[in-house]
Amino acid sequence: MKKQDELKQKAAHRAVEFVDSGMVVGLGTGSTTAFAVIRIGERLKSGDLKNIVGIPTSIRTEILAGELGIPLGGLDDQPVIDVTIDGADEVDPDLNLIKGGGGALLREKVVAQASRQNIIIVDESKLSPRLGTRRALPVEVIPFAAKYAENFLKSQGAAVSLRLDDKGQPYQTDQNNFILDSNFGEMADPNGLASRLNERAGIVEHGLFLGLASDVIVAAEDDIRHLKRNDQ
Ligand code: A5P
Repeated sequence: MKKQDELKQKAAHRAVEFVDSGMVVGLGTGSTTAFAVIRIGERLKSGDLKNIVGIPTSIRTEILAGELGIPLGGLDDQPVIDVTIDGADEVDPDLNLIKGGGGALLREKVVAQASRQNIIIVDESKLSPRLGTRRALPVEVIPFAAKYAENFLKSQGAAVSLRLDDKGQPYQTDQNNFILDSNFGEMADPNGLASRLNERAGIVEHGLFLGLASDVIVAAEDDIRHLKRNDQ
């Protein structure tokens, strides 16, 4: 296994220690979270974990969890989630996040908001002094408003590119929307930006997850750190 994958797995396994029998568990999306989903499957199979319900944040995660025999549900029946485990693309010192590199930001944010505890798992390459330093911000837009939203994002200072799939066609989210990867550079005021994006029709959601992570587990070569949000 590649070194970075070992770190992702290490963070994922630590996070799964916080899952207990009987819990409703939000299942994030991405390569790091996949290790957590696999671990949950192993714990269920061994009998160490019982009676959990997983709420997947994407079709990909739903398929993986289903293959592993994890019982799945939805928010209609399980409106409150005990703990969610998810990855991130960038984490700042206040545990604010950029997410959506895997395109699942909309359901991920719904699930995060429905969760009592949000544990984010990353390798140390995701840590950043300021959001926007490392990653463009994924912005999910309805296809009808893609160009209109692109012009708006440019007017807000971003360099914008429409995400493409491996056939060179516009990448489609699970909700059949498009993603505009919007490079704002280092963000001086992520809250202000989030408010402006929230107000704009045609933008369905964006990858700024502010004040949502309760815990971040960071795996580095020599150690594993468990960061908790200050205001808890
Ligand atoms: C999915 O839409 C994202 O929010 C992922 O959680 C994020 O991109 C992290 O993915 P990796 O664990 O694959 O880096």
